[in-house]
Parts: sequence; C-alpha cells; structure tokens
Amino acid sequence: MTLAAVHSTPFSTAHPSEDIAVVAQDHESQRSYLRLTGGRRLSGELTVSGAKNSALVLMAACLLTRDTIRLRNVPPLTDIAGMAEMLTSLGGKVQRSADALELDGAEIHTSTAPYELVNSLRASFFCIGPLLARMGMAKVPLPGGCQIGTRPVVEHVKGLKAMGAQVTIEHGVVTAVVPGRSHRLSGARIHLDCPSVGATETLMMAAALADGETVIENAAQEPEVVDLAGLLLAMGARIRGAGTPTITIAGVERLHGADYGVIPDRIEAGTLLLAAAITRSALRVTPVIPDHLSAVLAKLEEAGCRIERDGLGLTIEASHIRAVDLRTQPFPGFPTDLQAPFMSLLATADGTSMVCENIFENRLQHVAELQRMGASIRTQGNTAFLDGVARLSAAPVQGSDLRASAAMVLAGLAAEGVSQVYGLEYLDRGYAGLEHKLQSVGACIERVDPAQQLGANQAIAA
Ligand code: UD1
Repeated sequence: MTLAAVHSTPFSTAHPSEDIAVVAQDHESQRSYLRLTGGRRLSGELTVSGAKNSALVLMAACLLTRDTIRLRNVPPLTDIAGMAEMLTSLGGKVQRSADALELDGAEIHTSTAPYELVNSLRASFFCIGPLLARMGMAKVPLPGGCQIGTRPVVEHVKGLKAMGAQVTIEHGVVTAVVPGRSHRLSGARIHLDCPSVGATETLMMAAALADGETVIENAAQEPEVVDLAGLLLAMGARIRGAGTPTITIAGVERLHGADYGVIPDRIEAGTLLLAAAITRSALRVTPVIPDHLSAVLAKLEEAGCRIERDGLGLTIEASHIRAVDLRTQPFPGFPTDLQAPFMSLLATADGTSMVCENIFENRLQHVAELQRMGASIRTQGNTAFLDGVARLSAAPVQGSDLRASAAMVLAGLAAEGVSQVYGLEYLDRGYAGLEHKLQSVGACIERVDPAQQLGANQAIAA
C-alpha cells in the first residue's frame, strides 16, 4: 500500500495511526539491506579506494582555476556524484573515465550554490572558499547539522571575514562578498578556535588566490589537509606547513591545471583491518599509508592484533582480542570516523573497554543497535563502557550514519546467525562496493533490494 493509497481511501475504518504503521512497514519492506551470515573467517587481500574526504575537497578546489584538473583514484561514491552535481550546477564540467575525474571550471557562471545540493551533501559547503576567491562573491546555504552533531561553520566564516570578505547570514544562506574593485581577498593571520578540518581546507583554498600571505594557526593536521595542499601546489599555489598546526599560504594571482592522485582512504583501510580483527582472521590491506593510521594501528596492536607493515600496505592477523580504552581526537589522535567501527570490535573483546567520543556531540547512536546484537554497553554522556561478550547475535539493525552503518556491517560479520543491515544510503556515501570487497575474502554478505526482487517477480508473473 502506498501513502497515496491510504490518503485516497475516503471511508477507511482503520484507526489513522494503524494506517501509518502499515505504510511505514510497507516502506520498510522496500528498503535495500545487506544480509550477512556471521562467523566466517576471512582471508586474502583487499584493495583500499581513494579517500572520499580528500576527493570531495579536491573537487571543490578545481573551482580555483579555469584550466582542467585531472584527479586520479577518485572512489565511485554517491557523495562524489553529489559534489560533481554541485560543480555542474555552477557551470563546471565533470567527466569520469575509470577511476579518474576530469574537471573543467572554465565556464563557471554563477557563485550561488543550490540549497538542495548543499542540504544533501554537507561537504559542498567547501565551494564557498574557492568561489569567493575566484569570483569575489559566493552565496552558499548553511549546511545545517546532521545525525552526528550540529556541525557549525563559524570558523570558516571567521576566517573569510579576516581575509576581508563581508559576510551576512540571512534566511539560511551565507553571502560572502569581497568589497573593492579588485574583488581579491587579502592575506591574514587566522587563529582557529578548534582545528576544524573543513575550516582549514576552506581557508587554504581562499588564501591560495588572495593578495598577500595568510597564516592559519591551530590548523587541522589531517592527511586530507596535506592532500589538498598537494593538489594546490601542483596547481601553482605557494603553501608550507600543511600537516602541522601552522599553515602559511602566499597568495598567487592565478592557478593552473594539474594531474593529481588522491591518497588512499585511511578510514576505509581502518574498517577493513577491523573486519579482519572482528572475525579473528588474517588479511592483507593495500594501499595504506601507515602514518595516516598510527593511532588506529596502535590500538589494534594493544588489543592483541599482529600487524606487519611493508612498502605498500599492511597485513593484520587477529586471534584473541583484549579490551582497550580509546578517546577520539583531532589527527594524529584516534579518528572519530573509526570510533563506531572500533566499538563493534570492542563489543567482542575480552574485558571492559572505554570509548570516549570527543569530536561530535551525538556520535554514539550505534550503541543501541549494537545492544540489539547482544553487546553489553553502558553510556555516560559521550563515553561508552563495553563489557566484551563471547559472541554477538545476529539481528536486523539500522546504521544511523555512514560510519555507524559500517559498524553494523562489522558486527554482522562476527554475529551468530543472519543479520540485516539497513542504512545503505549512508554506507554508499563512503564505501565503494564494500560487500563485494568482503565477499572476495570469504564473507557471506549480499545486498538485497526488495523493490528490484518484487519487480522481477511481477515480470515473471506477467
Ligand atoms: C571532517 C570530515 C569528517 C570527520 C571530521 C572530523 C570531511 C568531508 N569530513 O568534517 O568525516 O568526521 O572532519 O575529523 O572531510 N567545529 C566548530 N566550529 C566550526 C567548525 C567545526 O566548533 O566552525 C567543531 C565541530 O562541531 C566538531 C569539530 O569542530 O566538533 C570537528 O569538526 P570539523 O573538523 O570541522 O569536521 P568537518 O570538516 O565537518
């Protein structure tokens, strides 16, 4: 039954809330999910895709030049498609061939970003920096919060103002204008109140074309910030200090085209290492830059995993997993994006672990779903205490955001029985073909699309 069908039944005798329940159930039964049979040991080698969070900001950086930028190792994700749509809506051209994107910003004709696109992809707010630097004006809707927290952009706006932009926020839209005839931002010294990744990246892009030198203090040190600096340098920018708390950018008048490869996704790599750990298996994962994962590797080793590093990647071997404590922190600390996946592992560890989420205020929603799978977890504020259990038990579960969905997949790999993991609209934003990768090393996992199956059955019946 569809919602329209319910509303068009004029003399329905059923209680309205029952009707809604039927509709909700009906809708539920149409949603895709991953079906996992837990308990399989994994073995073999897995390939890590390009970093989503890098690729998204590198795509926005293409707005800084009229020349063509070629980005290699760009993962095929819905978030990447969303950013491509945003660039296209501004007048850019985006073409994919295999794992490369060609981005042509010669005909950018508007500096106004559409609400629907920013609303569906937070990262598209990144466009404000390069648009302002190139066009002297940018109108970008506030992205708003998301499942994991309120996610303000105060630091981005503060930095742009320090560089001479006049910024107003009205009706949910940030309008930034560079006054004066040159329409060029001016270099400035900016101290960030917190080392925000997005603010650091936004300000680096804006400063690349500014008049004079910009110094960003208390900058984020994440590998994606260093990757952005790598692309900007290849485009002719003058930047030093990326990867340290102080980044200095000497603005240039013009940036040019470049051909650049995106770094491997450290969060995907961490998730795949955790797949080995939670199934007490051995896997080789490549390519990985171990320095990008040092806090995670240290915790995996503390938990009892054996990890070998070679020139290309890592081999992990896990048998007995001990409880460990971890706190999320800005890089090089433990990444918030691997907190939920690591918690799935700790739910099966020997002993009591403590996990403290320090970056986002609402990032423990996976706890309730892990509890549905038999995990023993108590929370207090932003801290979770886990008493490891010998075996999780399969259940239908819902991922509430990208990394929570990944945590559910990991739990399903280890749980006794058949789990259904919902929330694939999140998973597909950040993991390229996760089920195929896991299948290739022996996991029993498949995507089920009830709507497609229904269509096929109807076709056979007809
Ligand atoms: C990026 C990543 C995201 C990751 C996060 C933290 C992308 C596309 N996303 O998000 O996957 O989880 O870094 O590593 O790269 N903050 C403020 N004021 C601001 C800006 C941020 O208080 O103006 C706070 C946030 O509320 C949060 C913390 O700073 O508590 C970190 O946020 P930030 O580093 O900005 O995360 P994003 O760039 O949005």
